[in-house]
Amino acid sequence: MSQRRLVVNVDHVATVRQVRQGREPDPVAAATLAQLGGADGIVVHLREDRRHIQERDVRVLRQTVHDHFCLEMAATSEMLKVALEVRPDSVTLVPERREELTTEGGLNVTAEISAIGEIVRTLDDNLVRSCLFVDPDLEQIKAAHRVGARAVEIHTGRYTDGGADRGKELARILDAVRLASKVGLEIGVGHGLDRSNVEPLAEVDAIAEFSIGHAIVSRAVLVGMERAVAEIKALVG
Ligand code: PXP
Repeated sequence: MSQRRLVVNVDHVATVRQVRQGREPDPVAAATLAQLGGADGIVVHLREDRRHIQERDVRVLRQTVHDHFCLEMAATSEMLKVALEVRPDSVTLVPERREELTTEGGLNVTAEISAIGEIVRTLDDNLVRSCLFVDPDLEQIKAAHRVGARAVEIHTGRYTDGGADRGKELARILDAVRLASKVGLEIGVGHGLDRSNVEPLAEVDAIAEFSIGHAIVSRAVLVGMERAVAEIKALVG
């Protein structure tokens, strides 16, 4: 069996729920269905502003995701406290700005080496795998290794944006993968990945994890639409 993981991000199921501040759709139910569909793990981002995922979701998911549950979070003491209580299998540290629509870039590990290093050590002491979300930048990979992170997730956003520099961006990712692999970091990739752009990365054996959210939730809305309408139509005639 392949060692590679597809980790599905269900944040946007919670985004739809929060529009009405109700109970549905429940990201916990979506996570269960994602696992039935073949997901090897589930990831959620508990943001400081709680715009989608809530603490309840994180706690219930910890009870229901048995293979690989990853908590994405900012490198703050508030979030570290949640992580140590919930004990996900893995924590991915990401930069976070309130005004951003989504995570817009990787962590600046070189600039925050001692603060990030301290969180990594605390996670390690508590047997939680630490992963740093970084741009495909060799200095950031070296810094991730220096602080003792177990893994890096390489930000693929500039490649998946589909701009003119796509080829160059892919080459940067591959260089970062080579270095991360050489220094012994586990390697994941994520951001903007979908059916149209994932294949060149799927060919790279050193990439152990694919973290995908938006494309899967968007597709799920479309492939589920016909059935959802048919169910109501049967009731209203
Ligand atoms: N990895 C990280 C660190 C992210 O912040 C996100 C977005 O929440 C993803 C992966 C997934 O990106 P997308 O939703 O574009 O697939």
